[in-house]
Amino acid sequence: MAPFEKNAFIVGASRGLGLGLVEAFLKRGWRVTATQRKPSPDLARLKADTLRVETVEIDDDASVAALHTRLVSERFDLIFVVAGVATQAHDPLHAVPRAVAAQVYLTNAVSPIRFIETFLDRLKPGGSLALMSSILGSVSLNEAGGWETYRASKAALNTLARSFEIRHRAEAVSVLVLHPGWVRTEMGGEEADIDVATSVMGLADVISTRLGEPGAHYIDYRGETLPW
Ligand SMILES: NC(=O)c1ccc[n+]([C@@H]2O[C@H](COP(=O)([O-])OP(=O)(O)OC[C@H]3O[C@@H](n4cnc5c(N)ncnc54)[C@H](OP(=O)(O)O)[C@@H]3O)[C@@H](O)[C@H]2O)c1
Repeated sequence: MAPFEKNAFIVGASRGLGLGLVEAFLKRGWRVTATQRKPSPDLARLKADTLRVETVEIDDDASVAALHTRLVSERFDLIFVVAGVATQAHDPLHAVPRAVAAQVYLTNAVSPIRFIETFLDRLKPGGSLALMSSILGSVSLNEAGGWETYRASKAALNTLARSFEIRHRAEAVSVLVLHPGWVRTEMGGEEADIDVATSVMGLADVISTRLGEPGAHYIDYRGETLPW
């Protein structure tokens, strides 16, 4: 690898925003390691010498540990956990089975933070950890309600991201907590405001501008800082 070439690790790249981010960083000349849970035809279609495809289930500690071992010689400028779920997001809390609500919390908040904790030793100096949050994770901007279990899981992710950064402050870690906009993916639906290309172009610009900035920063795809 050329010494100036940047290296991204995109976790949850089988489709949607993760897939779009892989394409965006490849276009910018970055090397990319992308993960799927099962073979993704869309990821397989992206033929590039600079793309490595791996498999991981972020809710499974053994799967994450095995990937950490397989990537022993990799060092990344960006480790971005994009994976997330919105199971029964339209139902109010009391209508969601406890096990479903708990799983949304585990996948959206606990697993991403455990993942970056495991892979922190694979981050290059001057690099950033990134977490895919949502504007719905902002407690102070919650004027509309709705999306209750999802919203709570992203608020938990934001809180845990801040605690992670405080715990690692002596190492001056950079944690980018990102909102991609409301995007037309399987999760976002057809009525969403913007397409994947617009979102991932914005996110890649924001990441390139803020790369390595110490602290925890909650930012949207246009570079606007969001209130927690
Ligand atoms: N779309 C929006 O408007 C919007 C807005 C704000 C935030 N977000 C956030 O952006 C992220 C991506 O959303 P999207 O719209 O691209 O959703 P999506 O199209 O539903 O894609 C979700 C991705 O996450 C992966 N994933 C889910 N659970 C996983 C697990 N346990 N382990 C590993 N991978 C897992 C999926 O893999 P499989 O293909 O294997 O299921 C898929 O690649 C999510 O965190 C979401 O909350 C989206």
